[in-house]
Amino acid sequence: MENNKKNLKDLYLDFFASKGHKIIPSAPVVPENDPSVLFNTAGMQPLIPYLMGESHPYGTRLVDYQKCIRTIDLDSVGDATHHTFFEMLGNWSLGDYFKEESISYSFEFLTKILNLPIERLAVTVYKGDESIPRDEVSAGIWKKLGIPEARIAYLGAEDNFWIAGDTGPCGGDTEIFYFRSNDPIPEVFDPDDSRWVEIWNNVFMEYYKDENGNVTELPKKNVDTGMGYERVVAVLEGVNDNYKTSIWKEVIKKIEDVSNLSYEGNEQSMRIIADHLRTAVFIASDYSMIKPSNTDQGYILRRLIRRAIRHAKKLNIDINSDWEQIIAKEIISKYTKYYKEIEENQSVALEVLNNEKIKFNKTLEKGLKEFEKVVASNISEIDAITAFKLYDTYGFPIELTTELALEKGIKVDEEGFKAKFKEHQEKSRAGSEQKFKGGLAGNSEVETKYHTATHLLNAALKVVVNKDVHQKGSNITSERMRFDFSCDHKLTDEEKFKTEALVNKWIQDGLDVIVTEMSKEEAIKSGAECMFVEKYPDIVTVYSIGEVSRELCGGPHVKNTSELGTFKIKKEEASSAGVRRIKAILE
Ligand code: ALA
Repeated sequence: MENNKKNLKDLYLDFFASKGHKIIPSAPVVPENDPSVLFNTAGMQPLIPYLMGESHPYGTRLVDYQKCIRTIDLDSVGDATHHTFFEMLGNWSLGDYFKEESISYSFEFLTKILNLPIERLAVTVYKGDESIPRDEVSAGIWKKLGIPEARIAYLGAEDNFWIAGDTGPCGGDTEIFYFRSNDPIPEVFDPDDSRWVEIWNNVFMEYYKDENGNVTELPKKNVDTGMGYERVVAVLEGVNDNYKTSIWKEVIKKIEDVSNLSYEGNEQSMRIIADHLRTAVFIASDYSMIKPSNTDQGYILRRLIRRAIRHAKKLNIDINSDWEQIIAKEIISKYTKYYKEIEENQSVALEVLNNEKIKFNKTLEKGLKEFEKVVASNISEIDAITAFKLYDTYGFPIELTTELALEKGIKVDEEGFKAKFKEHQEKSRAGSEQKFKGGLAGNSEVETKYHTATHLLNAALKVVVNKDVHQKGSNITSERMRFDFSCDHKLTDEEKFKTEALVNKWIQDGLDVIVTEMSKEEAIKSGAECMFVEKYPDIVTVYSIGEVSRELCGGPHVKNTSELGTFKIKKEEASSAGVRRIKAILE
């Protein structure tokens, strides 16, 4: 498929463009304005404000391919189908078409563009509950298109009601399955039969679920669809192992080369290395410049790289050689055409991999010896002290210790480890896992306030410190804001004081926050601040705060600065070379 004239991605974009959809750029894997998740986990995630009713600058029909990272399945990677990174093809109707067109478009794309035989297709639809009726409309459309009743399964909310996390826009959905096997196709569709693989999900987003579980109708009825790129490529190429598709073939070949082993018989470690290095490349290339660390995205990056290194060692690869550079370069070459950051930041990503490798290799050997020594004493469980020592002294993420233990058939006192971890006041990782599992939560009121305060801080630093100060990153939680900016010196007490005072003056002035849409060129000409010009679409939204700030931004923001309270800088520190970091709160 990849080698055909047209890649599946291009076919998808072209098809939906021919149906009046505007192509929107893939959002970064690290969400810019949603601190409740570490990574984008679905194509709809960057579109939440628009699914909630805000008007999108590109109109009401959108299509894209979106980079997604789901680490909830990290430990399942190693089998034929799980990945931590994947691309999701998606098309959206924002209050435009609904079930009829959505289902018909999907059907046409699958049967006319991809030429999938209709007898290999089956669908599920929502069977309804006390408050939402069974989705006869979708079932009726499928039947009209030629899907027989026996190939339609009616399922409950666990399968056919979709929401990202606990709160947000949501609705019943219809999922499309493909019979991926050479066996005779059973007449009746059984969604639990693993030969039927889900390839596409069409969600009819007409509701909103809040923190208390209340479901209300959205201002408009939307459609959100997601098609798994890797799975469909596997279907089109007729293979049952995703890693045998054209997406992975050359990457696996490189792993075979550096290990002098063949894929057959070494599948698990090779898949883990391939998958984890790819995800690590995408995280490290993101413009947010994530580096391996012990918290949040940085921790996931560290875990991925270290697990890949451990599996490289299992394959007897010389882990001090440049094996990971060879594999990562192959991965990079496959994505530069589609993602600008992969092209631009390749040396950054390669350096991240190399540095982390050097760091971990220093202790890996000793850590493994320590581990062997402990398990040689015939224990049934690794105690918390050992697990913590492996983490603290030898840099073993707890998940790695658990994986090693599992291979020996023993357990790890993970609860005890967590307690020890807390004791050592490294609270952040536990927090990030929670964020992760919880999936998406709406932008709370307080986060919205921090978001507006970020713009004020950016503007104040330009006045007080230097007009060439620029935003380099930002992260918001409901407790605080963090703002990274270019600056060649540690701020003086006077600079900090004046910056804080200026932000508070603007808050007291009660400035209106106004949003306007304009072309990107016009916005930049008007002097609007913008972090990465190339990442924005041609038509952008610009938020102005009185006369003091103008920034390209997706929102959301408060309506008036008087809503913000009192702004306080809690900390100013170095972030990286030439970049300073401010942590601040609103009281
Ligand atoms: N948002 C839907 C999904 O991720 C389409 O499956």
